[in-house]
Amino acid sequence: MARIQSLEMRGISKSFLEVKANRDINLSIHAGEILGLLGENGAGKTTLMNILYGLYLPDEGDILVNGEPIRLRGPKDSMRAGIGMIHQHFMLVDKHTVLENIALGFDEAPFFFPHRAIRKKIEQLSDQYGLRINPDKPVWNLSAGEQQRVEIIKALSRNADLLIMDEPTSVLTPQEADELFEILRKMILQGHSVILISHKLEEIMSICDRVMVLRKGCLSGEASIEDVDKGKLAEMMIGRQIAAAYDKADVKPGGTVLDIQDLHVDSDRGLPAVRGLSVQIHSSEILGIAGVSGNGQQELVETITGLRQPLKGSVTMMGQPLKHVNARDAHTLGITHVPEERIKFGIVPNLPLYENSVLKQHRDAPYSSWLRMDYPVIKNHAGDLVNSFQVDTPSVNARMKNLSGGNIQKLILGREISSGPNLLIAAHPTYGLDVGAAEYVRKQIIALRDKGGSVLLVSEDLDELFMVCDRIAVMFEGEFMGELTPDTWTIEKIGLMMAGSHG
Ligand SMILES: Nc1ncnc2c1ncn2[C@@H]1O[C@H](COP(=O)(O)OP(=O)(O)O)[C@@H](O)[C@H]1O
Ligand SMILES: [Mg+2]
Repeated sequence: MARIQSLEMRGISKSFLEVKANRDINLSIHAGEILGLLGENGAGKTTLMNILYGLYLPDEGDILVNGEPIRLRGPKDSMRAGIGMIHQHFMLVDKHTVLENIALGFDEAPFFFPHRAIRKKIEQLSDQYGLRINPDKPVWNLSAGEQQRVEIIKALSRNADLLIMDEPTSVLTPQEADELFEILRKMILQGHSVILISHKLEEIMSICDRVMVLRKGCLSGEASIEDVDKGKLAEMMIGRQIAAAYDKADVKPGGTVLDIQDLHVDSDRGLPAVRGLSVQIHSSEILGIAGVSGNGQQELVETITGLRQPLKGSVTMMGQPLKHVNARDAHTLGITHVPEERIKFGIVPNLPLYENSVLKQHRDAPYSSWLRMDYPVIKNHAGDLVNSFQVDTPSVNARMKNLSGGNIQKLILGREISSGPNLLIAAHPTYGLDVGAAEYVRKQIIALRDKGGSVLLVSEDLDELFMVCDRIAVMFEGEFMGELTPDTWTIEKIGLMMAGSHG
């Protein structure tokens, strides 16, 4: 019999500096149940589960197993209590075989011939739960689905009664996802319980018994699956209120700036990521792309900014075809980019702010002449950016890595906007920013549009899209499910399109 008959989290709160990731959350689950934990990116799902796995200590709140309070000071405590977690990014050692990975840190193995015992254990678990795996294959040789099965076996071999899975299907093909769900069903029939983190409504509806919804760190809803449908879940996840739009100049969109025709792009894993997209963006227009991350948005942005080769189709910028895999060409055509991974791709952390203020333009006049950087001019420019974009820094000489996330983002946005772009591509530009900085960034994007610029805004934050955009296209599995304008959009329509219904 499973050791965990019931588990409860009571009044859990957790902050990271000013971000309240979890606020007074209550959660309960019992043996034989699959609980869905649903919420948009940043809602606090991973944080809550990291607390249950002993990776973070909560600021407040209690955890009870079978009615008894327990303290979890680390994953070892959690595993001892019967809690296992499989993270979004697998934590296996690539060079080792499946068997070696499962053997790592396995306390129960006998002293003599430990591998023989572990091999037996793998075979037994694999039979019991339908976890097909070859113990002698090296991990680098496994598909994402197989690696996940190794992680599950690893957790089960350490006697996990409750298994937490963080966005397990995000790396799987649809067929692999079906297989995973079969395994989970076998597990609960044998008395395990599962917490499945997901932001896919469809998935929650098909496998879970009950669902809890997080929104901006708070519990925004809880229900048995029989009592909800996708529309209701979308509403709980996104919130009822449509945010009011910011003031915008009353300008009509002008001529076509970016023209995308029948674009097909593969992901790094060689799977179709963008599947036959066609769209135009005009001057004085902000086109929003809504959708859950991982539906091809990133590949689309990379193709337009010259970082990724499409399989098929064309991208034309102001009448000129874009030469792909050529970021310099995109820059020359006036395409600028506020990237999703801003620390990795938007700045050079170890260089001072002033050098970061001209990263892509350092070879152009007036910052450089006769191949020499003109530092006084660059520092002046940096000072102007700091002032006009309200970047909080001791000086333009400060190293970029010492600025806070919001100030880094303001500088990147300032740099990109001040270069006078024809098209600004902004991917999740306010992700992780505090309210004030986020509002500032949005207003600057609108100001660019008011002056005749075009913007492609990729965001998971529907409030943000409603506040800023002139049109919103909803992307799902590499296709547009439809396009909405302020007079037609509703949370419910967008929610359903985000889950794959055509508008
Ligand atoms: N280790 C951390 N340090 C600082 N902020 C964090 C950390 N982990 C999460 N956050 C912040 O907490 C919020 C919730 O994040 P997370 O729990 O990862 O959400 P979800 O899993 O629902 O996408 C986000 O604003 C995120 O930026
Ligand atoms: Mg997460």
